Amino acid sequence: MKAIFYEQHGTAEVLQVGERPTPEPQDHEVLVEVVATSVNPIDRRLRSGELQEYITRTFPVVPGWDLAGRIVKVGAKVTDWQVGDEVLGLAFTWSIQHGSYAEYCPIDAASITHKPASISFEQAAALPLVSLTAWQALSEFGRLQAGQSVFIQAGAGGVGSVAIPMAKHLGAKVYTTTSAKNSDYVKSLGADVVIDYTSADYESVIREQEPDGVDLVLEALLGNGTAEAAIRLTKDNGRVAYMNNEPPEMAEIAQRSITAEFLHHRPDGEMLKDLVGLYQSDEITLPRVHIRPLEEALDAHLQSEAGHTQGKVVLRIS
Ligand SMILES: NC(=O)c1ccc[n+]([C@@H]2O[C@H](COP(=O)([O-])OP(=O)(O)OC[C@H]3O[C@@H](n4cnc5c(N)ncnc54)[C@H](OP(=O)(O)O)[C@@H]3O)[C@@H](O)[C@H]2O)c1
Repeated sequence: MKAIFYEQHGTAEVLQVGERPTPEPQDHEVLVEVVATSVNPIDRRLRSGELQEYITRTFPVVPGWDLAGRIVKVGAKVTDWQVGDEVLGLAFTWSIQHGSYAEYCPIDAASITHKPASISFEQAAALPLVSLTAWQALSEFGRLQAGQSVFIQAGAGGVGSVAIPMAKHLGAKVYTTTSAKNSDYVKSLGADVVIDYTSADYESVIREQEPDGVDLVLEALLGNGTAEAAIRLTKDNGRVAYMNNEPPEMAEIAQRSITAEFLHHRPDGEMLKDLVGLYQSDEITLPRVHIRPLEEALDAHLQSEAGHTQGKVVLRIS
């Protein structure tokens, strides 16, 4: 099968386009003929060699966890899926080898849901990882309620562009950061207060409008004191979901009864089914997608590394 793969860690240049043996599904898996996948920052971080203590690799590694496509084989213990079903899912595993930047990808049957005809394969492939991440942070961990407030860092990125409409769906007031070029985009997603981080100090702007702080912060940036600022901006008894790192060591977390945790997305076919239902009924806006052929995975990784992707970059396979 055609695939993108790497035989060693390194820069985007280690990515090769070529032929790999088609993997077989295990008993609890299905094999999906992938129509489209999408690029997540974790793909390039794993490629570069980060996180080896958590996620093991068997080289050559085919990267990628998001997929949308058709089932072509069903594992021996899978009863509720059929060959030909059109699905999307998050093919996350703690040991990577057979990812979704390929014509065929095995995936746990519990991690998929049906792809509705009204959502294209390319649009569907953009959804699993960021949607599950955002919903698990906002609703499950964050317990976000109508009338509450949330600060979502990096609103124009993959996670931000689904988290904003989800938070609006839950009835919250949304503060977000972006550069000026993405201001209209995040407003179109429903953001109430958009702060251009290149020209304004977001902490002062939010503090002015929410003197006691916000109920929840979704902190998706690395470095420059953003982890500490997230705590300062949170109300007493509020919550902070860290997407990249453990919470900072700050006495005020305990003193002000703030719940701060590093969250890691969890594949969940049932939750994905509910979220797809919300997208399908226009309850939440679909993220903008930029579609490229699979062969351009190297450039797509460079684009992701530059840190200014708007919405999601999708790779079309067949
Ligand atoms: N823990 C988990 O389970 C999990 C899951 C998903 C993602 N993540 C992490 O969460 C982070 C976000 O993921 P993603 O998929 O949304 O990434 P992404 O799509 O690559 O994010 C790109 C966005 O970041 C914005 N941005 C860059 N610098 C910024 C700044 N200083 N302030 C505000 N916005 C800024 C850019 O907006 P402009 O172009 O306007 O600057 C761009 O739209 C990544 O670090 C990723 O590794 C973690």
